[in-house]
Amino acid sequence: MRHILIIGATSAIAEVTARRFARDGDRLYLVARNPERLESVASDLRLCGATQVETMVMDVNGTDRHVEMIAQAETVMGGLDTVLIAHGTLSNQQACEASFKETLRELQTNCLSVISLLTHVANCFETKKRGTIAVISSVAGDRGRKSNYVYGTAKAAVSVFLQGLRNRLYRSGVNVITIKAGFVDTPMTADFCKGFLWASSEKVGNGIYRSIQRKRDEVYLPWFWRWIMLVIRLLPEGVFKKTNI
Ligand SMILES: NC(=O)c1ccc[n+]([C@@H]2O[C@H](COP(=O)([O-])OP(=O)(O)OC[C@H]3O[C@@H](n4cnc5c(N)ncnc54)[C@H](OP(=O)(O)O)[C@@H]3O)[C@@H](O)[C@H]2O)c1
Repeated sequence: MRHILIIGATSAIAEVTARRFARDGDRLYLVARNPERLESVASDLRLCGATQVETMVMDVNGTDRHVEMIAQAETVMGGLDTVLIAHGTLSNQQACEASFKETLRELQTNCLSVISLLTHVANCFETKKRGTIAVISSVAGDRGRKSNYVYGTAKAAVSVFLQGLRNRLYRSGVNVITIKAGFVDTPMTADFCKGFLWASSEKVGNGIYRSIQRKRDEVYLPWFWRWIMLVIRLLPEGVFKKTNI
């Protein structure tokens, strides 16, 4: 039985992954900022079969509370061996272009809060010499595009941070997984027109569960994004700057 901390537990994608954990009878500690949604997710996971489900209401931008939250999760569950970081906001690119304050706010939520959490969890698991850390990053971090480069910057930083962490923690037996998700139909993308490249939260959430089971390093979800992003990364900058991708 795993002892799992999920940050951003009300995310549509994380909810699907959490249901798989619950069906395995794992212990779950859920962190999110909306108390009603959090309680509704927790009740569902109890019904799905989780051995224990505890919750904490928290805005992840309050980084001062991260150490206390992680310690609380460990104490309440009687252990901690798996962490899934799922929170995020889809930045308003135009608003960020107009205001550095807005850019900073987005970088705080999508990057700095994640790096704060990773710093503490990494030290905790390194001491124990075991554990799994999974973080939902994005294909948007693989190449900067005019339509979303602030969000992409945050995800790129998270992906590189995770690469370094994976390299550092390998010898301690800690598994670090970068989830590079493509377009996913969730509340975050409710206003977008959906096409053939879009995946459901079920598909991606289940993919995250499998990646954790299989102790993967870096996964693209769905899988075909690995090849799409390979092509996009290979385009010379002189060509790429003229595109409207
Ligand atoms: N959907 C996509 O196309 C896509 C693609 C690539 C990567 N991702 C990533 O996947 C992850 C999950 O997103 P999703 O698609 O499942 O969207 P979602 O359902 O909107 O989930 C995002 C979650 O982040 C939480 N959150 C945002 N800011 C927070 C804060 N300051 N403190 C605590 N929680 C906060 C939200 O809580 P509230 O409900 O309280 O706002 C919400 O539960 C995110 O990291 C996102 O960047 C999504």
